[in-house]
Amino acid sequence: MARINDHYLKLGAGYLFPEISQRVRLFEEQHSDAKIIRMGIGDVVLPLGQSVRDAMHRAVDELGTAEGFRGYGPEQGYAFLREAIAEHEFRACGVEISPDEIFVSDGSKCDSANIQEIFAVQARVAVPDPVYPVYVDSNVMAGRSGPRDDDGRYQGILYLPCTEANGFLPQPPGEAVDLVYLCSPNNPTGSVATHDMLAAWVAYARNCGAIILFDAAYEAYITQEDLPHSIFEIPGAREVAIEFRSFSKKAGFTGLRCAYLVVPKELEGIDAQGNAVSIHSLWSRRHSTKFNGASYPVQAGAASIYSEQGRAEVQASIDYYLANAKIIREGLSSLGLRVFGGVNAPYVWATTPDGVGSWDFFDRLLEQAHVVGTPGAGFGAQGEGYLRLSAFAQRDQVEEAIVRMRERMRL
Ligand code: MLT
Repeated sequence: MARINDHYLKLGAGYLFPEISQRVRLFEEQHSDAKIIRMGIGDVVLPLGQSVRDAMHRAVDELGTAEGFRGYGPEQGYAFLREAIAEHEFRACGVEISPDEIFVSDGSKCDSANIQEIFAVQARVAVPDPVYPVYVDSNVMAGRSGPRDDDGRYQGILYLPCTEANGFLPQPPGEAVDLVYLCSPNNPTGSVATHDMLAAWVAYARNCGAIILFDAAYEAYITQEDLPHSIFEIPGAREVAIEFRSFSKKAGFTGLRCAYLVVPKELEGIDAQGNAVSIHSLWSRRHSTKFNGASYPVQAGAASIYSEQGRAEVQASIDYYLANAKIIREGLSSLGLRVFGGVNAPYVWATTPDGVGSWDFFDRLLEQAHVVGTPGAGFGAQGEGYLRLSAFAQRDQVEEAIVRMRERMRL
């Protein structure tokens, strides 16, 4: 029989969100009349904007003509989209990113899981705790960890505790690592790193030769003017960082799938002989070998969000979700829970009542209020005692969720 990759056997239970869906499915089977409100996985609910739909219709019609037909596109993405991203996402904020440093993909989940492939299996990895589980699981699958302990931590991975005391923002550790994942605005806690914090991380990475894998999938939700949207706003970051961006949460593309990775040309790693190697070239090699590009209509839809109408539509949906987040924050807070996030992020992170375990509170919320959240412990040991509620829901559902929690649960 074929020998499997044993590292997969180190993984804990199933991936967090399918695990939650499974529990919810079971509950639904037993309570067929329950009207469940889903605020677990961060999946958008608002319909696509008119500009995206129009651009996609036009692209599909074009593909239906002899002159407009296109087969395989460039693996790294069409120039029209890469140029639009460089202009509107970066140059408009004073950051110079060249279009050929942008690699368009079909999602940040894949990008953040795949990036580790171009680094040595011996690379030492640091992650915040709690953390988006993909960063950890993909490194475990690749063999960069030892076994998992009872708290769900894997030996060999350096966990950076994110607690109320440090505002859920990880500090650079006192030891060197090769790769460090940062996510700001943060999933799951909703915290956002300041310029000074990111500058400390860039200084750390430059000092010890680490590469920062910066997940900015939620940057569009930043409302405070003085907060950085990109790690490349920090001087010196081009030599030490890669950035993940996505159209999913910004423009409702969770079903359409479109994201991108920014890999500056200055960024280097070293080979076994100690020679410097361009990370941009390695990623380009990997990307063009394993990926054939996001579809043309999807890229056309993505580019349309930079039109005047597209920008207004995107902003309207972000405002809607942030207004939901405010309702969640205020609602949970009025129920006596301590709440975090939800101001510059679509996630609200709240303490569970009376020190109840995260999964127990998840169950109580489901059973008593028929509301689905995400247990903090699912994001790591430091998430124990917290619950995440996603603001990606219809307004009436958000309001109803708070009413049900107030009326049906004794918090
Ligand atoms: C989440 O709920 O954490 C996100 O939806 C996960 C993802 O974007 O893959």
